[in-house]
Amino acid sequence: MLIKTIHGWRIPENRATPEHVFFNRRKFIAAAGFAGIGLAAGIRPGRAAENPSAGLYPAPVNEMYKDAGRPITPEEVNTTYNNFYEFGTSKRISQAAEALKIRPWEIAFEGEVEQPFKLAFDELLKKMQLEQRVYRHRCVEAWSMTVPWSGFALKDLVALAKPTSNAKFVKFETFFNPDIAPEQKPPLFGAGYPWPYAEGLTMAEAMNDLAFMVTGAYGKPVAKSMGAPIRLHLPWKYGFKSIKSINKITFTAERPRSFWETLGPSEYGFWANVNPAVAHPRWSQAEERVLETGEKIPTVIFNGYGEQVASLYAGMDSLGDKLYR
Ligand code: MTE
Repeated sequence: MLIKTIHGWRIPENRATPEHVFFNRRKFIAAAGFAGIGLAAGIRPGRAAENPSAGLYPAPVNEMYKDAGRPITPEEVNTTYNNFYEFGTSKRISQAAEALKIRPWEIAFEGEVEQPFKLAFDELLKKMQLEQRVYRHRCVEAWSMTVPWSGFALKDLVALAKPTSNAKFVKFETFFNPDIAPEQKPPLFGAGYPWPYAEGLTMAEAMNDLAFMVTGAYGKPVAKSMGAPIRLHLPWKYGFKSIKSINKITFTAERPRSFWETLGPSEYGFWANVNPAVAHPRWSQAEERVLETGEKIPTVIFNGYGEQVASLYAGMDSLGDKLYR
């Protein structure tokens, strides 16, 4: 399929961004914030004081996921180096993302469910037991980070939605609001992006304990740039599966088509499991660059979470294309 729009994201990261310049500057800000000076706190996106759910954080640590075997990426790096295409095609969308209004925020549950319904985000929070989990995050662009997320297991949300036995997949969608998200405005030329951003999982994937609905990070409500008020995180899959700012969840009998799969099915597959043996058509996935330190480390199958998820893909060729696409 033709890729309608060519953007910087499709260029291997190491060729697209002169990061040493960016990170040297950011390191200074991060260090100041962590030393408790609070230099960055007053301008930090998604700051806790404005958020009615701030009192729920920090959430209790889930001992099973208290350590991802890697140092935690500094918060300032994480909140200011993002992929959030609704707000721009560069990594520096954190200011633009502040335009996102996260209250009121409703999530619609539709499709193959006993009864479709809508739920206000704050009502949903009251029904869920929040916990903190430290997860690895590996982008298809071959960079990685480690994040202390807060939220709840996706399987608990599935239980709340009451899908019928016809539900084989679950589809997630992000808001559509061109008034605040500049990239959602109709393009002057061409077809543009297939908004809203959408992603999908099999029901078995959604029920896996690792699949996590994120509402917080770094002991506070998740920043707008990182997908407030609620996003997904699937640590064994490439980051593009972890859809941000979700407002619709649909249970389906048919496999949903995701945003990036629509744009470039040969590059961004449905499964998108982290797999060092399957190169992206334009770059290797054998290694990843750790954000902040710049260290290059080998990428591991399922991003190191094979014990929990490999059985989901039994019968698929683990070294072949299938596991990825
Ligand atoms: N969700 C939406 N709605 N829009 C996006 O552009 N980008 C994806 C994913 N979720 C994206 C999204 C990609 S490509 C990645 S790598 C991660 O979000 C990045 O998450 P982060 O900015 O918190 O690192």
